[in-house]
Amino acid sequence: MKHLLKMLDLSTEEIIEILNLADQLKYELKHGIPHPHLKGKTLGMIFQKASTRTRVSFETGMYQLGGYPLFLSSNDLQIGRGEPVQDTARVLSRYLDGIMIRTFEQKEVEDLAQYGSIPIINGLTDFCHPCQVLADLMTIREFKGSFDGLKMCFIGDGNNMANSLIVGCLKVGMSVSIACPDDYQPPKEILDFAKTYGDKFEMTNSPMQAAKGSDVLITDVWASMGQEGEAEKRKKAFAGYQINDELMAQANAEAMVLHCLPAHREEEITEKVFEAHANEIFEEAENRLHAQKAVMVKLMAQ
Ligand code: CP
Ligand code: NVA
Repeated sequence: MKHLLKMLDLSTEEIIEILNLADQLKYELKHGIPHPHLKGKTLGMIFQKASTRTRVSFETGMYQLGGYPLFLSSNDLQIGRGEPVQDTARVLSRYLDGIMIRTFEQKEVEDLAQYGSIPIINGLTDFCHPCQVLADLMTIREFKGSFDGLKMCFIGDGNNMANSLIVGCLKVGMSVSIACPDDYQPPKEILDFAKTYGDKFEMTNSPMQAAKGSDVLITDVWASMGQEGEAEKRKKAFAGYQINDELMAQANAEAMVLHCLPAHREEEITEKVFEAHANEIFEEAENRLHAQKAVMVKLMAQ
């Protein structure tokens, strides 16, 4: 494993190795056991979109690993004024030991990996959000003990979160059911992958159908970063695609609820369900830190 560009690139074994290391690093942090695996290393963090969790967890995680994080806003970098990513990659590879990038196009992340010579970590693109889904898998295993026999249900937009959840959950052996409006399905590349899992994958436009018998329910905002101009149109298209009490009644008893955050209460999830599952949702947010530290150690320690 040289980079973390998308969940599609990871084998099941690599995912499990990252989750095991993440659990260990979480244990070490909680027990005051130092783990300076990245002493003397630097991570550049390029942000072309806003962030709370990704920025703070990478920055803190790098510090806890003994390394140094550099926050690089695209407003200040020449990349924001049109310097080609190929050149940026070759320059930054000579200063840094790794790059985390949050941007719009997946191609930009893939290009950084192709032209640079250091590990690249995808901190969210329009196509996927692998760091978040590694934290989600860590949280599911932490609460449920294993992935065996579990069904994950995603309600809402066939977006970056849906894409990574479909791939990640299928790869670790879970069943996946997704409910999205017909015009907002995940891209063909993801659906083609999911179809190879036969009846372990189901897609419908009925949230009630998708939620039946599920153990983990997940949703995300109706309008992602960059789609703010479509917010009103999307509110109409996604009406009814909400995690609420009625939907929870379709799920298994003890079903958990996750949300990558930020959440829009009374849109994709009700305040009541959100608060009833706040312990799971905020553990999920915390696990961003541990899962990403594991990714950085896997990619950058030697
Ligand atoms: N979930 C997530 O990636 O949060 P931020 O946008 O705050 O980084
Ligand atoms: N789908 C959301 C996820 C935010 C973490 C977005 O891209 O804005």
